[in-house]
Amino acid sequence: MSYNTYIQENKNRFLTELFELIRIPSISADSYYKSDVQKAANKVSELLKAAGCDSVEVHQTSGHPIVYADKLINPALPTILVYGHYDVQPATPLELWETPPFEPTIRTTAIHPQGAIFARGACDDKGQMFMHIKSLETMLKNGGLPCNVKFMIEGEEEVGSVNLEVFVKQNKAKLANNIILISDTGMISNKQPSITTGLRGLSYVEVEVTGPNRDLHSGLYGGAVANPINILASMIASLHDENRRVVIPGFYDDVVELSEKERNEIAKTPFSLEEYQGALQIEAVYGEKGYSTLERNSIRPTLDVNGIWGGYMGEGAKTVIPSKAFAKISMRLVSKQDWNKISDLFICHFKSIAPKGVKVEVKIHHGGQAYLMPIDHIGYRAAFEAYQEAFGVAPLPQYSGGSIPIVALFEKELDSKSVLMGFGLDSDAIHSPNEHFGIFNFLKGIETIPLFYKNYLKRYLIDN
Ligand code: BES
Ligand code: MN
Ligand code: MN
Repeated sequence: MSYNTYIQENKNRFLTELFELIRIPSISADSYYKSDVQKAANKVSELLKAAGCDSVEVHQTSGHPIVYADKLINPALPTILVYGHYDVQPATPLELWETPPFEPTIRTTAIHPQGAIFARGACDDKGQMFMHIKSLETMLKNGGLPCNVKFMIEGEEEVGSVNLEVFVKQNKAKLANNIILISDTGMISNKQPSITTGLRGLSYVEVEVTGPNRDLHSGLYGGAVANPINILASMIASLHDENRRVVIPGFYDDVVELSEKERNEIAKTPFSLEEYQGALQIEAVYGEKGYSTLERNSIRPTLDVNGIWGGYMGEGAKTVIPSKAFAKISMRLVSKQDWNKISDLFICHFKSIAPKGVKVEVKIHHGGQAYLMPIDHIGYRAAFEAYQEAFGVAPLPQYSGGSIPIVALFEKELDSKSVLMGFGLDSDAIHSPNEHFGIFNFLKGIETIPLFYKNYLKRYLIDN
């Protein structure tokens, strides 16, 4: 039968299976959930086997497991490597969820009139990764695969993919492929699909400022010693200038400015500042002078504090000058900025601006390089045709502000480009309370992916 008929007839079972995966709280950042992360890996391997993969392995690492599976039908045909992740972000703050994060619930919203699955991981990335498993099943049950396929589904994407990096370097032959296919990004809207052509890089650091050797009475010592929180606040405030540019020397050295033509293309992306501000309930946007909002959140590098703490944070008031202050800082990187170099520049600058009377320590958490996909690449073209067929609308290229650091590493180590076929929406609240994924998006994804296989094969045969 046709793929669409098959998808419609099996829709409820697809959702039931996805819900079983979502119910496992596979939070990679929190060691309390380690056995749940393992359970999710086992579940993914069962799903891959049931969908028709021949070899399925759960590879243990020094962190969380990597699931590998494949269905190799003919060495003369090209091979697609599907990458995704089954780990999720922590669900806190729990009290802001309308329904519990690991009990998937379907509700409609203004943007998702056909309903959306509300749960942690519904969109990022269990729901999107699972679409690939169901596309595989759909193809195998209705005439077979056009290409060979390999799956590599990891459990540490949300914590920096440290062990996947090792796995990739040690298993290049096993992972050999013609193109990598990933659904872990978004698109502009359900009426205007888009394909992600850029991901930002990342450097994530944590700083610790130490003043006196113990917390002090803020009356007896206040005014006479450096207060680490006051100092940290002014050090952080000094990292941007009046044009909201990052002042770290060398920070912009490897940023390639886009051409006027490329900037004009970005400006064509449908975007309403009014709706943007309305959705966030802010009266004005804020950012680097000389760039539009769409540029600021995609093709420009940034520096942002993600968390700041220290001193007394309990109930009521306690008069104290703290011994220590802390902050977590992320820098989103673009074009040729090297994340190791940027991390070093940050450390050097941050230490240099510390006044006498405090000590500064900086720890690097993780990072990765930015990634670009040219729109004349065979993978982009095949994805373009797939979206056009499935949505009846030509997709637009879209630079994303998010990061999937392992994608640049794939290019370096496996020498293949990744096609970023995302089906989420910015409003899906990934990483936030009430994350959700539209049922329309889920089913459209399962429908679009086989069209990529078909169009990729067609273009591959023309080229080879
Ligand atoms: N899937 C996201 C990245 C993403 C989402 C890219 C939407 C583009 C559009 C991924 O799971 C993620 O959250 N990445 C982290 C980085 C990671 C190293 C923790 C990010 O971008 O903050
Ligand atoms: Mn993700
Ligand atoms: Mn994520």
